Amino acid sequence: MKVLETVELTKIYQMGEVSVTALDGVNLSISRGQFVAIMGPSGSGKSTLLHLMGGLDTPTSGEVFLAGQALSKLNDDQITLLRRQKVGFIFQFYNLLPTLSAAENVALPLIIDGKRFPQYEDKVWQLLELVNLTDRSQHRPDQLSGGQQQRVAIARAFINNPEIVLADEPTGNLDSRSGSVILDLLRKACKEFSTTIVMVTHDPRAASYANRVIFLKDGCIVDQLENGENGIQVTKIMDIMAKLEL
Ligand SMILES: Nc1ncnc2c1ncn2[C@@H]1O[C@H](COP(=O)(O)OP(=O)(O)OP(=O)(O)O)[C@@H](O)[C@H]1O
Ligand SMILES: [Mg+2]
Repeated sequence: MKVLETVELTKIYQMGEVSVTALDGVNLSISRGQFVAIMGPSGSGKSTLLHLMGGLDTPTSGEVFLAGQALSKLNDDQITLLRRQKVGFIFQFYNLLPTLSAAENVALPLIIDGKRFPQYEDKVWQLLELVNLTDRSQHRPDQLSGGQQQRVAIARAFINNPEIVLADEPTGNLDSRSGSVILDLLRKACKEFSTTIVMVTHDPRAASYANRVIFLKDGCIVDQLENGENGIQVTKIMDIMAKLEL
């Protein structure tokens, strides 16, 4: 089953006289439960693609189908609702609310959705267990390390049982040890909940955790690697990067 599809997806940023084509007719189809990495040089359109996929921004032309719905057919309220119910986001700089505890940050999407915290305590706890942070549940973000904050952000991204989790450089700000923990967690969550994950990364080692790698250059898909259950060899990814001069 396709969870996410883009058809001739194009984004042109117009800045006065200058226009920048950030995405140039991207066709992509992602099945349920896939862990997909998107690679490419700085400015190749990775974040733009992720934002369009998650309905955070609108394309200049083309279409995104998210969980079977054409985003262009939905109004802003409908997109917001779809995003809340079907999509989890993870960013490079965690984006936690500084005044809330770890547990409250995990529960935040539910609270925004009008659900009452006590009813979901078990679910919050289950996710804190998954990311191994039950002993930090009452800590605020400034009392947590970067890796711990990112684990809170992962738990938060999964709280709504999303169909798809979109992650933009989730390990970009972490040392390699904390990065591996995050990548193992994403892979585990992908398998455990059959959630589709799309992760942008510069790092071939991070991309090797995925079962499919998509290479972007100048807003176009220029190559792909696909593999079975347990990731892709780093050397294969590096070979393509070298070939494409990424
Ligand atoms: N809001 C914007 N207004 C104008 N141009 C933009 C905007 N956002 C991105 N761009 C341009 O679009 C292109 C793609 O940007 P994007 O952020 O998608 O790249 P990226 O692959 O995520 O890069 P990086 O690896 O550096 O994060 C770049 O040339 C960038 O300058
Ligand atoms: Mg980016």
